[in-house]
Order: sequence, then structure tokens, then C-alpha cells
Amino acid sequence: MCRPHSQYKLMARKTTIRNDDAEPDEPSVSGSETGGIGSGRGRTRDGDSEGDDPDQQRFDDELRPSRLEDVVGQKAVVERLRILLEATKRRKEPLGHLLLDGPPGLGKTTLATVVPRELGTELQITAGPSLSAPKDLLPYLTNAGYGSVLFIDEIHRMPPAVEEFIYPAMEDFRVDITLGDGLNARTINMKLQPFTLIGATTRSGMLTAPLRDRFVNREHLDFYTDEELATIVTRNARKLRTVIAPEAAQEIAIRSRGTPRKTNNWLRWTRDFADVRANGIITLDVARAALRMKGVDDAGLEEQDRKYLETIIRVFGGGPAGVQALGHTMNIPADTLEDEVEPFLLREGFIQRTPRGRMITAKAMAHLGMSQKQPKSSTENPDQRELF
Ligand SMILES: Nc1ncnc2c1ncn2[C@@H]1O[C@H](COP(=O)(O)OP(=O)(O)OP(=O)(O)O)[C@@H](O)[C@H]1O
Ligand SMILES: [Mg+2]
Repeated sequence: MCRPHSQYKLMARKTTIRNDDAEPDEPSVSGSETGGIGSGRGRTRDGDSEGDDPDQQRFDDELRPSRLEDVVGQKAVVERLRILLEATKRRKEPLGHLLLDGPPGLGKTTLATVVPRELGTELQITAGPSLSAPKDLLPYLTNAGYGSVLFIDEIHRMPPAVEEFIYPAMEDFRVDITLGDGLNARTINMKLQPFTLIGATTRSGMLTAPLRDRFVNREHLDFYTDEELATIVTRNARKLRTVIAPEAAQEIAIRSRGTPRKTNNWLRWTRDFADVRANGIITLDVARAALRMKGVDDAGLEEQDRKYLETIIRVFGGGPAGVQALGHTMNIPADTLEDEVEPFLLREGFIQRTPRGRMITAKAMAHLGMSQKQPKSSTENPDQRELF
């Protein structure tokens, strides 16, 4: 079943995992030029996205659940996936195409890698930004075996030409290839093996309707509860052979912005901190001191989150502020703000989104220790000026 390695040299930034000849927990990875699962990422914010940081990717892969039973939380999604996987196995037919959407670090790549492992099928991985033309996608499609999974991360960043090329592949398992130019151009049809496309996106709103409609299964991942994150901390501390007090696990969970990737990153940091500043044991005090040093506050907000809120207050008088204007002022790309900063702030009620822009809330003002209605005399201090 294994194809010669050289066959994969043609593929840009690809990773293939074969489950037929590997132990479930130790998938064999072949043809990878950029590292492990999750390669080819575009975002770069430290600690929040896989980015191009190989250390982050390695750490993500190390702690990534490998089977569905190890996936914590997302109960409804996992339950539906269980049914789909069971039905697929019984019918011995490929799983219908699956779209996973949700903010960064919530488990899209994790689920995309768990699914083929559960089905015992092959997995190929690529990402929207590395598919600049149909020819970049073609090798993945022609190499996809019956029932195998092709995972396209950041699928919203595929160029329109690639998107149109993928439509017949998803619908009829064929591709139309144009050879030559002008009068000599001719189109040939190539049949593909029925396969499953798993797409992941942080921006389902940016997907075109025709692409979205071709996914028969769509799942949205939401933020995790503190209890679920505490379970992840405890399990992963065991994997990392680190001793952690239950209340310290709870503290890390509370400050993780509902995001398992954050949880894992804070666990890694507190472990380093405990090794250097304490006796290697993560107690509540050690966890608090470690997170304080990283600038993480009680609500899990970091410097960039606070800077975002303060910019709305100081520069835009509390809002409404457009995301582009905020991005320019903060010197941060607007999509980074939309993808990685705003979802949690919105969910926690620190900001509101209105048709005219983002507005600060009373909760955010209280969190930052500012009051909404200050007497005019206090305007010398920009923190204290009247906002509304
Ligand atoms: N349900 C879960 N249970 C336990 N750990 C999880 C779960 N979901 C995610 N994780 C952990 O969080 C890390 C990040 O998850 P993952 O890479 O799947 O996020 P993502 O949604 O693909 O993020 P991005 O949008 O940045 O690509 C994983 O390496 C894994 O260790
Ligand atoms: Mg991912």
C-alpha cells in the first residue's frame, strides 16, 4: 500500500500519514518537508496559532489527542462524529466532506487528524495559502486513495482558481485539466478515487456559498469550559511527567481564554518556571507567579488584549471603532484581531460588535480599572477621561 517516497517529492509542503502500516498512536509521516501536522500555517501570533513556529507545532503535536476518546469537551460535535464514523465504517463508503470552523487553537487540526485515524485510512495535509494554483492541488487529489482524507487547513485562503478546480473533485470525484493555450487548448477529464475532504477555517464567513454547500458535514468548535481545560492540564501534566496541584491546574484553565492551545502553552511555561524558580512542582502560587510574569491577568487577558481594549478607549473614545482602523492604530493586521483577539473578548462581553464598529463595555472598563463616567476634572490622565 505504501507508495515510493519519491512520488511525494512533487508535492509542495505536504504531509502524508498512513494508518494502514502504523501503530494508531504513532502514525508514520512521510514526505513531510515542513514538519508535523499543521504545517503551512499563515498566522503568527505567539502562543495562539501554530504559525510557522516549529517549536509550537512540535509541542501541539506532542500533546494532540490521537483518538476520539481522548478528545476532551466539544461533546455534541464528538457525538455526531462518532455516529458518522460508525456509519462510514459499516457501509464501507467514504465519509462525506467535513468542514470544521472555529477560533484558533480549539481543535480543528486535532479532529481532522483523529478522523482518519479512527477510520484507519490515509491522511494528506495541506493548507490554503500553499495552494497558489490548481497544479499545486492536483498531486493531492490524484494520490488520494479510496476513502482517504485530504485535510486543507485555512481553506478560506485558497485562491478562486483553486476553489473552482476543487468543486468537481468534491462533487463528482473528477478534475478537469486544461492542456495548452488559446486555439490549441483542450480539456481532459480525470477520474479520482472517492475521498473525503476535511476543511478547517477560522473564518467560515469568508467561504463562498458554493464551497460551503459542498461540505455535507459542518461542525463549529466553541470555546471550552474551565473544567474541560483543567482536565486537559491534568492529563497533559501526566504526559509531561510534571507534578501539578489540582488548584494550579484550575488556575491555568481559568486563564487560558477557553482555548486548549493556550492551556498547553501555559502548562509548558509554568513547568519551566517551576523547574527554575521552585522545586519542579506546580503549586497554585507557582502557577500564579509564572502567569503574572507572562502578563496574563485573572481573566486570561494578555498584553495584546489589554492594548486592544485600551486603544478603543483612548483613541476611539470607547467606540464604535472599525477593525481596520484598530489594526492600523495598533500596527497589527486586522485579520489577526478578528481571528485571535476579538472572539474571546466578544464571548466574555468585553466588547460589543455593532454595525458601526466595536464598542467597549462596562465590564471591560471595570476590568481595566477605569470608570465610564469620570468628572471632567480628571481628564489630564487619559485613563480617567470621560468616555461617553
Ligand atoms: N478537544 C481537545 N482535547 C484535548 N486537547 C485539545 C483539544 N483540542 C485541542 N487540543 C490541544 O490544543 C492544541 C491545539 O489544537 P489544534 O491544533 O487542533 O487547534 P486548531 O483549531 O487547529 O487551531 P488553528 O486554527 O490555529 O490551526 C492541540 O495540539 C491539542 O494538544
Ligand atoms: Mg489547526
